[in-house]
Amino acid sequence: MVGGGMDTKAKAVAGLLAATCVCSIIALILSVVNVKDVFLPPSTKYGLVFDAGSTHTSLYTYRWPADKENGTGIVSQVDVCTVEGPGISSYADDPAGAGASLRPCLDQALKIVPAEQQRETPTYLGATAGMRLLREQNGTKAEQVFAEVAKVIGEYPVDFRGARILTGTEEGSFGWITVNYLLETLVKFSFAEKWEHPEDTEVLGALDLGGASTQITFQPGVPVEDRNTSVFFRLYGTNYSLYSHSYLCYGKTQALKMLLAALHQDSVTAQISHPCYPMGYQENVTVAELYDSPCVRAPSTASPAQVLTVTGTGDPARCIMAVQKLFNFSCGAQRPCGFNGVYQPPVRGQFFAFAGFYYTFHFLNLTSQQSLNDVNTTILAFCKRNWSELERTFPQDKKYLHTYCSAAIYILTLLLDGFKFNEHTWSNIHFSQQAAHTDIGWTLGFMLNFTNMIPAEPLELVKGHQPGLWAGAVSFIVLALVTGLVAAFLLCFWKTK
Ligand SMILES: *[C@@H]1O[C@H](CO)[C@@H](O)[C@H](O)[C@H]1NC(C)=O
Ligand SMILES: *[C@@H]1O[C@H](CO)[C@@H](O)[C@H](O)[C@H]1NC(C)=O
Ligand SMILES: *[C@@H]1O[C@H](CO)[C@@H](O)[C@H](O)[C@H]1NC(C)=O
Ligand SMILES: *[C@@H]1O[C@H](CO)[C@@H](O)[C@H](O)[C@H]1NC(C)=O
Ligand SMILES: *[C@@H]1O[C@H](CO)[C@@H](O)[C@H](O)[C@H]1NC(C)=O
Repeated sequence: MVGGGMDTKAKAVAGLLAATCVCSIIALILSVVNVKDVFLPPSTKYGLVFDAGSTHTSLYTYRWPADKENGTGIVSQVDVCTVEGPGISSYADDPAGAGASLRPCLDQALKIVPAEQQRETPTYLGATAGMRLLREQNGTKAEQVFAEVAKVIGEYPVDFRGARILTGTEEGSFGWITVNYLLETLVKFSFAEKWEHPEDTEVLGALDLGGASTQITFQPGVPVEDRNTSVFFRLYGTNYSLYSHSYLCYGKTQALKMLLAALHQDSVTAQISHPCYPMGYQENVTVAELYDSPCVRAPSTASPAQVLTVTGTGDPARCIMAVQKLFNFSCGAQRPCGFNGVYQPPVRGQFFAFAGFYYTFHFLNLTSQQSLNDVNTTILAFCKRNWSELERTFPQDKKYLHTYCSAAIYILTLLLDGFKFNEHTWSNIHFSQQAAHTDIGWTLGFMLNFTNMIPAEPLELVKGHQPGLWAGAVSFIVLALVTGLVAAFLLCFWKTK
């Protein structure tokens, strides 16, 4: 009778023990596997942005973990595809061609984005100064080009959110956001396990040189006096009051076009001596080709079909003088300015100089923080090299080889006389193409803003398990283990007795 009673008790205890074990295992599994990951399928998201520049178009594919999308340094570039042919603004007389040119890159991007996620992949096309100039020349043609690119992108199974022209201020601001997002100067996951604004980190300025415009954006030490150049952001709970300006026509291609036009107008004849082109270099260009943009105005006497012969003279001193004439450095009113009378507070802090600034200086091996003196010496020496020697030394760079001297002198003039850097602040300029394996340009900042991935207010802690669930799981396991141990102890106690 006693034995039987004990048997029943033992069975009950054994049953309790088994149930406890099963429960503990379930609790353990639940706590280890994040419930969210199991029930919310796509843990990685994608975004596509076309950068329709004046000289060419690129398609950037970005990727980020869905559950952390408000953090910083989370979005990375998976791919960049360069569209064959010129920028979309060059298709003014063949708008359908602009649309068709985008297809190979769209096909490439859709090989990266998994099929089941394509329909929710935000896709944008942003055009910059090339299209700003075309719109100035003929608005109808600009609209036709946009209609064609939108038609083609619309045929693809993506979440197409439109094609449009960015303003110069947007282009500058989004470049600034890209730089500071990638360098984590806006918000950082601190040792206190919180997303915080890094106290001792200064934000960086952004210097962008495109084909048709150049942008300067930074946080000045003084309030911005001119509303047209002031930008305000609230990001992660911190206010940023920035200065940003975009100079149309002062991108590399258009500036060198203005230079050639100025030399043509000085020479009067069809023979142009070009002090920035290497000695021994010669090219022919028609009046129509030279004066094909609103940045240059053809003299009434020149007939479009006339052929101009441009001969390099490799004379850096004259080149500097000719380049300086492209700018008006006088400020007029009693306020600090950049050039052409545009207000600009004195530059402040560290800067990233990317796109054309980087490409030109990279070719000249000037991207490793050389002193201004060394930079000057290198550029002057390069400008004196003759064409046949350059062709022999750099057979890979034939297309742009004759322009590097002009471009380098243009960049020096723009940075020093235009933006007013000096021999001290020069060392604050970092010539870079990438940060955190991602290209620096406006595209990432644009996508972050339009997908609301940079919240205005500070981030709550969203990392790992939610505290409630985690605490619950831990207490349950402890409780289960204790119950199990007590049960096992009782069982042994009864057995031995
Ligand atoms: C990101 O921020 C937005 C707006 O601030 C919010 O609606 C969203 O839930 C956040 N996403 C995550 C994963 O925290
Ligand atoms: C602009 O382009 C349209 C379409 O190609 C053309 O019909 C029109 O004449 C052009 N306008 C100007 C001002 O050139
Ligand atoms: C240069 O800029 C100043 C101030 O904006 C202006 O007064 C002056 O007329 C400009 N000079 C030329 C040659 O355009
Ligand atoms: C840059 O450096 C490389 C490697 O040292 C050299 O081959 C090349 O000639 C240099 N480029 C210029 C423009 O001096
Ligand atoms: C960012 O995007 C929002 C729309 O989502 C827009 O209202 C805002 O102006 C954008 N910011 C900038 C600087 O363009």
